Amino acid sequence: MKTVLYPGSFDPFTNGHLDLVVRAGQLFDRVIVAVAVNSAKNPLFTMEERCELIKASCAHLEHVEVVSFQGLLVNAMDNFQADAILRGLRAFSDFEYELQMALLNRNLKSQCETIFMMPTLKNSFVASSLVKEVARLNGDFDQYVPEPVAKAVRAKLNL
Ligand code: PNS
Repeated sequence: MKTVLYPGSFDPFTNGHLDLVVRAGQLFDRVIVAVAVNSAKNPLFTMEERCELIKASCAHLEHVEVVSFQGLLVNAMDNFQADAILRGLRAFSDFEYELQMALLNRNLKSQCETIFMMPTLKNSFVASSLVKEVARLNGDFDQYVPEPVAKAVRAKLNL
């Protein structure tokens, strides 16, 4: 039974995130989407809302669990008995930060492996921050997020 932990802010969960969860489900028996509680960012959605939206977006997938975590990712990895961490790489610009994080995590916990996956091309430019910006500026953001997320963004921003 192999488990991968997919951590992030997920504010909100996008089609790019969903793409990765589906792909990871083809390689791992269990995909745990782990919503970070202590994000330095000022989130649009509460941690509970983010978890509920991920659950609704992944309801059709059998291998997925959604949890929240506080503190170090390497400790969450132990708590959820994960074999690896999953992160998405969209563009080259993601690489430096991701490499730093993966190496730091491995320095903190020597058995910590990070696996990178690329979303399909049409999701490769989708980012939560850009989705929120397009939504706030009344652009068509529905195409970038699962349906439950689109509804929730509309409600949150009074669109
Ligand atoms: O979606 P994000 O904002 O890029 O996710 C970043 C996240 C939450 C995965 C990262 O900030 C994280 O792992 N936070 C937990 C605290 C931690 O372990 N920090 C040290 C590793 S960089």
